[in-house]
Amino acid sequence: MQLFEKNGHQIIHGDALEVLHSKVIPDHSVDLIFIDPPYNIGKDFKGIKDKWKSDEEYLEWSYKWMDLCIQKLNKSGSFYIMTATQFMPYYDLYLRNKLNILSRIVWSYDSSGVQARKYYGSMYEPILYCVKNKENYTFNSDDILIEAKTGAKRKLIDYRKNPPQLYNTKKIPGNVWEYPRVRYRMEEYEDHPSQKPILLMERIIRASSNEGDVILDPFAGTFTTSFVGQKLKRRTIGIELNNEYVKTGLRRIEILEELNGEKLEKPLKSYEVRNAHSDLIPGLFDQ
Ligand SMILES: C[S@@+](CC[C@H](N)C(=O)[O-])C[C@H]1O[C@@H](n2cnc3c(N)ncnc32)[C@H](O)[C@@H]1O
Repeated sequence: MQLFEKNGHQIIHGDALEVLHSKVIPDHSVDLIFIDPPYNIGKDFKGIKDKWKSDEEYLEWSYKWMDLCIQKLNKSGSFYIMTATQFMPYYDLYLRNKLNILSRIVWSYDSSGVQARKYYGSMYEPILYCVKNKENYTFNSDDILIEAKTGAKRKLIDYRKNPPQLYNTKKIPGNVWEYPRVRYRMEEYEDHPSQKPILLMERIIRASSNEGDVILDPFAGTFTTSFVGQKLKRRTIGIELNNEYVKTGLRRIEILEELNGEKLEKPLKSYEVRNAHSDLIPGLFDQ
């Protein structure tokens, strides 16, 4: 296990279970936990396992880190968790005995490609939103308001109110969230198969934490949680097993500029390489 730290942001290179078992993160010290674990669907995390021998083994493993994460959460803390659609019912059943589940969120996205030809392709990922104490938790509804599209746009009057008044132009989002997935050409893209969008993390962090709060992400990947947390002046802890993704985090959170003599720079995308070359050698890619 290796810990990097700068200005209230910790990156821990190690196995989530081991780190959570150790006392590196004190119990009851975290305000918000966002968990986006391997989904047990065989993704390529550069050599890190995303397929267990059986679904039961995957669930047993998941329950272990869930319990440890709950231990880290303070008494007014919030807990968001994702997994594949087929495992979420098990997570839900397990967690409803340990936390208060307040929302079952659907992150919905579109795709120009065909997902499946003989059944309905998967176009969403589920997120459970839970709190430790439903009488005392952070929910900054004013910080996540969205445009109210129906009544307000048409300047309708709400006659249910006394006296009648115009519909509100803003509202608190419901539990279906539409955000595009992170695609190669997007500025935020990193080389990772299940990077979560900045906008998704912004909503979660704004709603369920305040400036200075501590946010933990035990499966940090490209460290989107830390990146957004830093932007929003929270403190963050990210755990990641894969050295390559740790390097992405160190660069993204600006903890280090180089590691073991290697400069931590964002690799150019293929079209950026092409543009750079065609600037140097005009006409090179014209045909
Ligand atoms: C679904 S991805 C997280 C993506 C992340 N939310 C993002 O926005 O980039 C899961 C991550 O967990 C990491 N991982 C897998 N097993 C781990 C373990 N035992 N401990 C820590 N990290 C692990 C994988 O390398 C992968 O990057």
